[in-house]
Amino acid sequence: MSLLQERASRERLLAAAAATAAACRACVIGSERRNNVYGEGDPCARLMVVGEGPGETEDLLGRPFVGRAGQLLDKMLAAIDLAREDVYICNTVKCRPTSPGPRGPKNRAPELEEMANCRPFLDQQIDIVRPSVIAALGAPAAKSFLGRDFQITKMRGRWNEGPLGIPLIATFHPAYVLRQTGGELDAVKRLVWADLKAIRTRLDEIAAAGGALAPDAPEQASLFAE
Ligand code: URA
Repeated sequence: MSLLQERASRERLLAAAAATAAACRACVIGSERRNNVYGEGDPCARLMVVGEGPGETEDLLGRPFVGRAGQLLDKMLAAIDLAREDVYICNTVKCRPTSPGPRGPKNRAPELEEMANCRPFLDQQIDIVRPSVIAALGAPAAKSFLGRDFQITKMRGRWNEGPLGIPLIATFHPAYVLRQTGGELDAVKRLVWADLKAIRTRLDEIAAAGGALAPDAPEQASLFAE
């Protein structure tokens, strides 16, 4: 099968899986959300990014990571020479988790039961895309793969065995980075940059070992712009 045929076949599989996910009402949030946010990107991506769950903008547009955090994610990816379109982006849950707020529903982290209900959809995405590397963004996403005891501040930036034996690394969520200021912001950015470089290196190593074609590695180790 040519790469084009492979991509088309995976696109069809993902579209069918997305339709099934959109019909799911296993959680209350399935009936509250505006759009199911299944995921998007290259079905043959070497990197899969998994966030925690859709926020307001994602819910509105039906696309993952398109709000402020998404804009920072795009910059983080660009810092290691990856275009958003070359990556597959999704979340642990496909519906926006909300709790009541004074000015309408506000975002909250997904509950364990919601992540468990949605897990078959995530596993199916991983199985179809078969990325070389998975990056979990933030503690909820990391915990969903690595267990409740995972601590993002202590355990980010390390390689773990993810689903299907795929190398998995956790780093800070871009929304967390955006909440930092001053010295904390500089410190977090440095850690995220180290994690991004680790991802780049791992992708290049896998490609060099015959895993996949790698675009050129970035020549400048500059911190991604805010
Ligand atoms: N935060 C997430 O975890 N996922 C999104 O899609 C957007 C923001």
